[in-house]
Amino acid sequence: MTERGGVVVLDFGGQYTQLIARRIREQQVFSTILPCTVAPEEIRKLEPIGIVLSGGPSSVYDKDAPVCDPEVLRLGIPVLGICYGMQWIAKTLGGQVEKSDRREYGRGQMNVQAGCGSALFADLPNSLRIWSSHGDSVLGLPPGFRATGRTESALAALEDPQRKIYAVQFHPEVKHTDRGTDILRNFLFAVCGAKATWGGAAFIEETVEAIRRRVGPQHHAICALSGGVDSTVAAVLVHRAIGERLTNVFVNSGVLRKNEFEETLEMLRERLGLHVIGVDASERFLAQLKGVVDPEEKRKRIGREFIAVFAKKARELQRGEAHGEIKFLVQGTLYPDVIESVSVKGPSATIKTHHNVGGLPEKMPFELIEPLRDLFKDEVRRIGRDLGLPDELLQKHPFPGPGLAVRLLGEVTPEDLATLREADAIVEQEIRRAGLYNKVWQAFAVLLPVRSVGVMGDFRTYGLTVAVRVVESEDAMTADWARLPAEVLEKISTRIVNEVRGVTRVVYDISSKPPSTIEWE
Ligand code: XMP
Repeated sequence: MTERGGVVVLDFGGQYTQLIARRIREQQVFSTILPCTVAPEEIRKLEPIGIVLSGGPSSVYDKDAPVCDPEVLRLGIPVLGICYGMQWIAKTLGGQVEKSDRREYGRGQMNVQAGCGSALFADLPNSLRIWSSHGDSVLGLPPGFRATGRTESALAALEDPQRKIYAVQFHPEVKHTDRGTDILRNFLFAVCGAKATWGGAAFIEETVEAIRRRVGPQHHAICALSGGVDSTVAAVLVHRAIGERLTNVFVNSGVLRKNEFEETLEMLRERLGLHVIGVDASERFLAQLKGVVDPEEKRKRIGREFIAVFAKKARELQRGEAHGEIKFLVQGTLYPDVIESVSVKGPSATIKTHHNVGGLPEKMPFELIEPLRDLFKDEVRRIGRDLGLPDELLQKHPFPGPGLAVRLLGEVTPEDLATLREADAIVEQEIRRAGLYNKVWQAFAVLLPVRSVGVMGDFRTYGLTVAVRVVESEDAMTADWARLPAEVLEKISTRIVNEVRGVTRVVYDISSKPPSTIEWE
């Protein structure tokens, strides 16, 4: 996205970078994240009203410590450095930064320098509880700077109001910092002169306009529609921009849930009026998955197959109708998919390859349109609501691109898929029946390749195990297992063992993320 007048967050690899952008958007000011290595020229093109330098895990003295081009501090755009961002500013502008081998985590107290009149702390109490995680400390101010806040042991805030460069050692974006939102608001509205105009309607308008410009008057786009919230919102946005030049393709990858292909096609066509072509490629996908046990390999093969199916469909479409060139592929990629897949926006570590991004082959016949790439799920749901999409769709739980393939540990076989589908349908039914569907983030079954002994009637059985996973989460970056009522768990367990052939045991997953992930593979 290239909206003007927003705030650019430059990522030094901090775990809270995305939270900073999100907190800014919560103030109705547009914000996007770029890698710290981005050229100042690229930043200037976006015409931002402010720049935030994020935190990061390094010491400014590390050999490969991430750095920005110092020109970023001379663009004449207000800057706020947070944690590592502050240390980098101090070191770059000639301050004294002391390296520490020990990181300090957690709560502290900061006193705002009496009478400093800092715009950042306007209308705030003189003493604030702050949350920090830092190793290095700033001991000496760079020329032109003054201290505006101190903890017992260190400088906690400094600024050069002339150059509009501000820095804090703590994290105003996390809830544990008192009045952190007010500090960000002061930076946005008092220092940068932001206007609170960004929101659903503005996002829709700007995004539709940007897509229209990018696709131009002739080209066509094809959308990888999955029937989930993300790709559907993406499709509706692109449809608004280029109308009938968007063709949606919904692929049955053979690893969808029970009845999902038929029901989703009907919803997209009948309820949303989208032009959708259904392609049943399940056999191709299952052939690709034969004998594969490694989760990353499953993801890659599914990603590859998706693209192959699209490319084939696109060629057919181009030949078949009076279509212009299909040049673009629309995807509903969200920020967590990006951050957890590849380190495109800074040096934070890759956790899992998601097919939306990381699993795609390098050489692709399409250019990608990913209108939701900077957003979180709850933000996308809000956009969906503003677009008038039905609640039933907006509340739908996320479903991974590689589908049941990553919920069936080990090799994907048609028999095990059928078993998992039945168990999964029971989990969803019972969660809905208990009125919990809209309260939890995801609820699903996982089929484990583990056999255990059971007894049914007078017979000894030796069947498979189903793990039930129900989690609560705000944005999938962290999650906790849902404390389901025992009766609901009991109902799920009894029904699965009684109704799904071949399953003798049901277990409930009580791990949180981190250290586990939501999906099992
Ligand atoms: P994890 O398992 O990484 O999942 O905690 C976080 C969220 O992302 C979903 N997920 C995926 N979505 N392609 C997707 O489109 C994938 O490969 C993928 N893997 C996980 C997951 O369901 C959860 O909501």
